[in-house]
Parts: sequence; C-alpha cells; structure tokens
Amino acid sequence: MATLSGDVGGIWMDNPVMLAAGILGTTGASLKRAVLSGAGAVVTKSVGVAEREGHRGPAVVQVEGGLLNAMGLPNPSYRHFQEEIDIGRDGGAPVIASIFGSSPAEFVEVARGLDADGFELNLSCPHAERYGAEIGCEVYNVEAITRAVKESSSVPVWVKLTPNVAEISALGLAAERGGADAIVAINTLRAMAIDVESCRPILGNRFGGLSGPAIKPVAVKCVYDLAGAVKIPVIGVGGVSSWEDACEMIIAGARGVQVGTALGNAEGYGIFRSISEGLSIYLDRKDMALQELVGAARRFP
Ligand code: FUM
Repeated sequence: MATLSGDVGGIWMDNPVMLAAGILGTTGASLKRAVLSGAGAVVTKSVGVAEREGHRGPAVVQVEGGLLNAMGLPNPSYRHFQEEIDIGRDGGAPVIASIFGSSPAEFVEVARGLDADGFELNLSCPHAERYGAEIGCEVYNVEAITRAVKESSSVPVWVKLTPNVAEISALGLAAERGGADAIVAINTLRAMAIDVESCRPILGNRFGGLSGPAIKPVAVKCVYDLAGAVKIPVIGVGGVSSWEDACEMIIAGARGVQVGTALGNAEGYGIFRSISEGLSIYLDRKDMALQELVGAARRFP
C-alpha cells in the first residue's frame, strides 16, 4: 500500500486526513475518537481568551449543498480547555488547537496558555464581531498576528483563511511573511437562508457561514491559487466528503485535507479511514507517491 505518512506543515502524521476545526472538537473524547477512527491529526473547536456563549439560536441549519452555521465562537476560554487537548492526545495523534482573538496580544495569550502540537489561527470565522474574518481579511492583521504567535510559541503555526475576499493569495502571502508553517483554506462562505412563511432569516444571527459540498469547488480554486503563490504547505478544507474529494484537493496543491461537515453523513467517523484507504488504493493504481500528486494539476498547461 502507498505510504501516506509524512510531514504536514511541520507536524508528522500517519496520514494527511484531519478533523477540521469546529466539528466535534469541543471535547477530548470526540477528538480522541476521531484519532482512533483513523484521523491523522485533529483540530479543536476554536478557543479564545474569555468564555463565550455564542450567537443565539438557531445556530445551524441544513441548506441545499451543506450546512449554514453561526455558532458565534462559543467556547469555555483557553483556561478551561487544556484537559480536552490532553484527552485528545491520548489517541496518539497530534492535536492542533484552533485559537482566536481580536488582536495579536489576545492570540499570544491563548497560545501561551495552551500546550498543543500546533496552533491553527482562526482569522476567518465569517460571523463574529471583532474576530475571525473581520480582522483576517486585512493582510496587515494576518501578517502581524501570525508573527506574534510564531515568535511566542515553539510549535508549528497554521493560518486558516477566509474565502470572503477578492484575492485569497494576498492573505496567504501575508501569513507566509509572518512565519506561518502552513495555510489552511478555506473557512466557510458568508451565506444566509430565509424562512418564506415568517419572512425571517432562519439563523439567530441572521447570516452565517456555508460549509459542505456546495463550497468544494470554491475551496479547490483557493487551494490551487494559494499553492501557486506561497512556498509553505497548503491544507485543503471545504466540502471534502470522499477520497475523490481529498484527491482533488491534493491535485490542486494541498499537502493535507481536513474533513468537517461530512462527519454528519451516514458513515460518521468512518470517513477518516475510508478517505485514507481510497487515497492509498488510488496512489497504488497510479503507481505514484503522495508527494508526486501534490499540485499535479499545475503541471498541465
Ligand atoms: O462560530 C463559530 O464557532 C465558527 C467558527 C468558524 O467558522 O470559524
């Protein structure tokens, strides 16, 4: 069988199929279960300096092509999260903490307060005032926050970018200048659903972020553009629901993939193993190493 193990953004993994931030990453038990189900690494739900309840409900609704969510970054604060990371680590794979803040100082406070195998900077949540994409759509902020966390931490730092901008590559280059070890693309697309009987927006926050199969072609294009612009690895996320989707992301230029919304599909946690197995069989059939597949689409004029 083709080997899938290797370094992804400064972190060694048995395979490059990871649990994405925000989905099932709130407890150590679910992080550990994802690892035991075959995830090569897991990313936690985003945590910040202070406890937050998040937006009022409904916070998630199923729409055509995926899920629309406006959770609002609910979290217990980093001060009450280390135990979940430690339980997740019992599974034997790297645990990456997704962190958010409203300034370089807040990001640094959270990073200094957590012991994890890496940090993923959430500069991309599309619906939280003062956080996420609100600051992460400016190249200056992306570079300054990345640099601040990188200088204050000894583990790899990944930066998760928003697709809700004209040119995502400019954000990727800013993260690279700041010293990022990898780019994670993409977070959700800003979106809305309205109930036609009541004439009201369905989400409590009125709008939210769209994830799932509908955004996969957007994610593939962002990964392709980023991989052509930066030298650091790109990790693809957005609508990955099968080994074929993972393959497509890798051919576009991703060195690893993250799975989120698809965990709600019938196979549940089984998706990690089925993507890895499908990828291995594909590589054997093509007689290719994983590294040869990364960015293969760029080799065609
Ligand atoms: O609201 C949330 O917790 C989602 C965060 C995100 O989309 O990054």
